Amino acid sequence: MIDLKDVYKTFDQNGTKIEALKGININVDKGDIYGVIGFSGAGKSTLLRMVNFLERPTSGTVIVNGKDIGKLNKKQLINIRKQIGMIFQHFNLLNSKTVFDNVAIPLVLDHTPKNKISKRVEELLNFVGLEKKSKSYPDELSGGQKQRVGIARALATNPHILLCDEATSALDPQTTESILELLKKVNQEYNITILLITHQMNVIQKICNKVAVMEKGKIIEKGRVIDVFGNPKEKVTKDFVYSVTNDDVPISILKLLKDNKQDVKNRRFLRLKFIGNSTLIPMISIITKKFNVEINVLNASVTELQDTPMINMIIEFQGDCDLVKKISEYIKNQDIFVEEVV
Ligand SMILES: Nc1ncnc2c1ncn2[C@@H]1O[C@H](COP(=O)(O)OP(=O)(O)O)[C@@H](O)[C@H]1O
Ligand SMILES: [Mg+2]
Repeated sequence: MIDLKDVYKTFDQNGTKIEALKGININVDKGDIYGVIGFSGAGKSTLLRMVNFLERPTSGTVIVNGKDIGKLNKKQLINIRKQIGMIFQHFNLLNSKTVFDNVAIPLVLDHTPKNKISKRVEELLNFVGLEKKSKSYPDELSGGQKQRVGIARALATNPHILLCDEATSALDPQTTESILELLKKVNQEYNITILLITHQMNVIQKICNKVAVMEKGKIIEKGRVIDVFGNPKEKVTKDFVYSVTNDDVPISILKLLKDNKQDVKNRRFLRLKFIGNSTLIPMISIITKKFNVEINVLNASVTELQDTPMINMIIEFQGDCDLVKKISEYIKNQDIFVEEVV
């Protein structure tokens, strides 16, 4: 549905060249909620703006709905833009216009007949849960309500694709949750493909099925959310994943361990990761019996990746290298991720 092939973008700022995108390849399938995550300045907004040609790539190809949009004429480009809605971190609403009029803007620009506009706007405000606010002005709304107006406006022309630029970054956690729920509903009920960018891993965790991690204009890791969360490879990805799974040994426990010096030499730590069905395996109990060890759980957390649970655990036991190897092998053979933490 969206294909970026070897896309480069270089800005020229007063003679200084800024390489915002350096060979981007991503492929968003119909029905995806595809998340791109990265720190500020990574190039995320620039990437998103390639998709509707708000910015033109310096080189590379952008294909949307099977069309190479670099090859379209002005009229064709306008037409394809109607199929692409966009929402923003700071909502970009017109403060002098009512909620109704804000949502109606794309329809007015599209020369839609007045009676059809009313019907469509009503329908959209209903969908986003703002049917009672149609006569209010943006200043009279909360951040979450403003973003709902933004979403309604973005959906006005029945797009196939919704681009979200940090859509929840200006919102508190609870409001973020409700906006993410709404985006999920947009995806499922209207069958709209979503490409979103964010610096918040919990956004990816809550609604995305695929993720790409961006750093300094490049995509350094990408894949299904379950795979990337289950086995992050790059340092940046690991940091993002840990920011939601929180699976390190708490400092207070490390301190207790340090203070308690007995048997330090043979103290072993393993990190275990159970995903999906494997969360049902009573692994600790099995190992305890099978290898005759006493196990202490130092940290355990459950993260839900949409419908898939993931459990991270750090366990500690006494034993020599040989025993650690044997236990690790056994766990690995059950298709459970395991690594020794030292
Ligand atoms: N219109 C522009 N002119 C010059 N430099 C730009 C422009 N837009 C973005 N940049 C630069 O490109 C880099 C990537 O920016 P951006 O895509 O906004 O990153 P992100 O959204 O990940 O924070 C930054 O160094 C930024 O300063
Ligand atoms: Mg940005």
